[in-house]
Amino acid sequence: MAKIAPSILSADFARLAEDIEKVERGGAEYLHIDVMDGQFVPNITMGPPIIKSIRACTKMFLDVHLMIDKPERYIKEFAEAGADLITFHVEATPHAHRVLQAIHAQGIKAGVVLNPGTSLDTIEYLLPDVDLVLLMSVNPGFGGQSFIPQVKTKIQVLRDLVTRMGLQVEIQVDGGVNRENILELVRAGADVFVMGSAIFNSEDPEQTTKDVRKMLALQG
Ligand code: DX5
Ligand code: ZN
Repeated sequence: MAKIAPSILSADFARLAEDIEKVERGGAEYLHIDVMDGQFVPNITMGPPIIKSIRACTKMFLDVHLMIDKPERYIKEFAEAGADLITFHVEATPHAHRVLQAIHAQGIKAGVVLNPGTSLDTIEYLLPDVDLVLLMSVNPGFGGQSFIPQVKTKIQVLRDLVTRMGLQVEIQVDGGVNRENILELVRAGADVFVMGSAIFNSEDPEQTTKDVRKMLALQG
């Protein structure tokens, strides 16, 4: 069944532990953590010390999305801070396969991320060594943007490719996902849904998570 990955980018950073508890109680499977360096993307967020603190207060699966230049420099730090999955942008390094190896060497899951304009061709030969592909459906940097519609086709094409290659790769979508569009994205072939503003800017993040969980369960 499809999974929900609430993005804490839209949480209240001064009440982070409480916000995390809400989505954990709501039944979310992954906790999505957006790391931005002010270089690869025009925003700065958080680094390993905050992830270490989060690790100490939840058992949730920590899904760390690196939006940083040359991610190879920081794999060990993020793994040691407590990441269960590290995803990095193929646009941010000339050695994507080496970064995948470095992440797996830490004993955790590894994923690649594509910006909306980046072709699936760039990852075809990485797929056998990838646990998850994250397709950005907004330009990375900020929460609360609108879903870029052509990413739906990209999900379908990637799903076909993964099936044809006989692989077990999860497909994650990040950016502009909400209650209105999530089911068509499930049907397109995505498995893991990042939701930032749709959950944390709602009146009751716990209930919203439960509602979305129910929608996904009914979908099967
Ligand atoms: C954007 C981040 C997202 C962001 C999504 O660069 O990677 O994870 O939090 O936020 P929403 O769900 O509000 O589009
Ligand atoms: Zn993200």
